[in-house]
Amino acid sequence: MSALLPGDRLALLTSGGDAPGMNAALRAAAKVGGAMGFDVVGVEDGYVGLMEGRVRSLDLRTLDEASRRGGTLLGSARSKVFPTAEGQARAREVIVRENLAGLVVIGGNGSLAGARSLRDAPTARGTLRVAGIPASIDNDLACTTMAIGVDTAMNTIVEACDRIADTASAHRRTFVVEVMGRDCGYLAMTSGVAAGADAVLVPEIGKSEEAVIEQVVGIMVNAYQRFNAKRRVLVIKAEGVKIDSNALKEGIERAVATQLPDVDTRVTVLGHVVRGGTPSAFDRLLAARLAHGAVRALADGLHDVMAGWIGPGAMPNAHTTLSAHDPYIVLTPLDAVLRETQRLMNGESEVAQWRRRIFSEIEPILAR
Ligand code: F6P
Repeated sequence: MSALLPGDRLALLTSGGDAPGMNAALRAAAKVGGAMGFDVVGVEDGYVGLMEGRVRSLDLRTLDEASRRGGTLLGSARSKVFPTAEGQARAREVIVRENLAGLVVIGGNGSLAGARSLRDAPTARGTLRVAGIPASIDNDLACTTMAIGVDTAMNTIVEACDRIADTASAHRRTFVVEVMGRDCGYLAMTSGVAAGADAVLVPEIGKSEEAVIEQVVGIMVNAYQRFNAKRRVLVIKAEGVKIDSNALKEGIERAVATQLPDVDTRVTVLGHVVRGGTPSAFDRLLAARLAHGAVRALADGLHDVMAGWIGPGAMPNAHTTLSAHDPYIVLTPLDAVLRETQRLMNGESEVAQWRRRIFSEIEPILAR
């Protein structure tokens, strides 16, 4: 299949849970694509908008402003219809009607699976050329060290925990702070280390409710003893740990009722607060580099790939190629990305095993 050529229509689409930095990726993709002579357009509301033919032009000045903001200017969605035969047929009709030659999808695992499903969609110039850009606060995608949005979400959690730590220390309290991350503990663990948490509960370690309560109680008893003089216990709990945070609080309170009768426990669920807000400088730059790598790949004749960010020399997959334009950007076939992501989430990949090992090693160190 040939490269995307000047004059070709390239559509940008954001999909799934939004992530801070998506607008910065749109801006960079639109600018790089425009510089290469492509007719760059946007699809509203992810695959829902694609099925409904909501394709529109992009204004660079509006994107300049939007790139400083969270959310996504194009809108996003999680469509149940798009993966069905009817949804696929509708999307393919629009691709032909709108004369799209290329599609850049910015999103997480489900969104990239959607991109892959369209790679054989017919266009006036062969099949559709698709490329993916990883964006998800969960950091649960393989073949990239970080996805867009993770850094901002981490900063948001750390800022919230700093505030909570102030009031927790004032009252000698224990706080359970629940953070997003779906089935992945990365965000909880990295934020916990940065925030100075005393314990981080992640799904990768897979403890029972009793074991978690025992762990937290042990930390509390130790923390509030006179020689230790800790004034608070901060527990970050990933949402993927399937224990209700309020049930956990009750279990903890019951267990310490005799030993620590004057120590209260409180719960804060940060929820969607973690997904919004001004993207960090790191996320804006990451978004720009990934978008640059993805659009350049299409111009170079590479397609069905995701642009990932890694250190030089660390190729995540045998099928990965290095971007010709950035030593930190690699291009991995979507098939390999989705396969490796599955292995990451099943706990089978090297990265998953490393994360599990390091999470277990960090646990007792945080408690000190
Ligand atoms: O995948 C991003 C994410 O924010 C997860 O952390 C969370 O589990 C999920 O999306 C929430 O999705 P929704 O906004 O559809 O409730």
